[in-house]
Amino acid sequence: MSRFLISILLLATCTLFASASDPSPLQDFCVADPKSPVFVNGVVCKDPKGVQAYDFLFRGLHLMGNTSNNVGSAMTPVTVAELPGLNTFGISMARIDFAPMGINPPHTHPRATEILTVIEGTILVGFVTSNRENRLITKVLEKGDVFVFPEGLIHFQKNLGNGYALALAALSSQNPGVITIANAVFGSNPNIAADILAKAFQTDISVVSQIQSKF
Ligand SMILES: *[C@@H]1O[C@H](CO)[C@@H](O)[C@H](O)[C@H]1NC(C)=O
Repeated sequence: MSRFLISILLLATCTLFASASDPSPLQDFCVADPKSPVFVNGVVCKDPKGVQAYDFLFRGLHLMGNTSNNVGSAMTPVTVAELPGLNTFGISMARIDFAPMGINPPHTHPRATEILTVIEGTILVGFVTSNRENRLITKVLEKGDVFVFPEGLIHFQKNLGNGYALALAALSSQNPGVITIANAVFGSNPNIAADILAKAFQTDISVVSQIQSKF
């Protein structure tokens, strides 16, 4: 085989392994040491000899989040920040509580696909595909239904019922990140100039300023 062909094959193989998820662990575990001053892609490992059972434990996901806020929902995350033993494993989860008619506003997880299970209630979910199609895909979910939100896409949930709703989400990153669209666009620090947003949203600066004042 020519050297050129081998190079192409090698390149193709590398591309296959260049996946968009958290990197694979190279040891049994790497419990996060959040106090380490060293910056790496992830979190530095604690000395494995000092690792204890509690490093792999998170308690409290039976507790309802406080949904007394403007959107009527609460997210309780269990990421590497709350559960150090998750470090390097590429997964995390969250509890999402909804007040009656509460919403989890449009947001994205820059580093994770999300799979959501409805534990209680009736929840409308949706996500929007990327440009230029920007197709909205929605579904009404009942207890026991499972729905997937593809990595990076804008998605949302709404409690359609008169009672509280509860969902559990699993995510394909130890640190999925959240970008809430309204907060990021209208509540950045410092603000994005109102004339830029006015043009982007095809509206008046006064409308933009009014929205910005709420974030
Ligand atoms: C829930 O949040 C609201 C608004 O921040 C606060 O006033 C209230 O005390 C909280 N309730 C509980 C039980 O923590």
